[in-house]
Amino acid sequence: MAGLFVTFEGIDRSGKTTQARMLVEALGDEAVAVREPGGTEVGERLRDLLKDPAVTISAEAEALMFAAARAELVAQVIRPALDAGKVVVSDRFLDSSLAYQGIARALGVEDVEQINSFATRGLLPDLTFLLSIDPARAAERAGQLDRFEDEGDSLQKAVFDAYRDLAAADSGRWVTVDADRPSGEVHDEVMRAVQRAREAAGTRA
Ligand code: TMP
Repeated sequence: MAGLFVTFEGIDRSGKTTQARMLVEALGDEAVAVREPGGTEVGERLRDLLKDPAVTISAEAEALMFAAARAELVAQVIRPALDAGKVVVSDRFLDSSLAYQGIARALGVEDVEQINSFATRGLLPDLTFLLSIDPARAAERAGQLDRFEDEGDSLQKAVFDAYRDLAAADSGRWVTVDADRPSGEVHDEVMRAVQRAREAAGTRA
């Protein structure tokens, strides 16, 4: 039985990590939680490098490093879990690369899609949540700075617009949720959408 692959996307401090955790807790043993970049030995080491403000990385190398971390995670964790019928919940996936590297860093969506399609062997999420919050509101939330957040408002605004365009282009996979609300309300909306997706997957199976 094939499982369900659910991803959370959004700008920094949009609340994805909290929502991914709440969904995993609600699903219990059925769920497998992963985060990007990370989740494997190679992925966690790449994460440290990618987030380190003291490291300078070209946009191209950055895209390839995210893709390499993703390749490991898909092969070692995500694919096997989906094959075992689990609901895989990922805090970010390839849409982060399309939004940050492809659009905000202007590498081009097609090129970034191509390296990621190789990295993931074509795996796409069944359901992707866009946690939508105005960048100025998100910046008011507490959090730690990293190499990306150090770049300031302009990157977050570009990523916000990028996500909106990606979600509009594929409304079958994306569900946009207003994230400027208490986390419990956002979670209820997430649960309803996951339930609908599971029913749809059940009908297809
Ligand atoms: P986070 O896990 O705390 O959100 O940090 C990951 C940072 O890396 C975040 O600023 C977004 C960025 N990122 C990309 O630029 N491209 C990617 O493909 C992924 C997964 C993350």
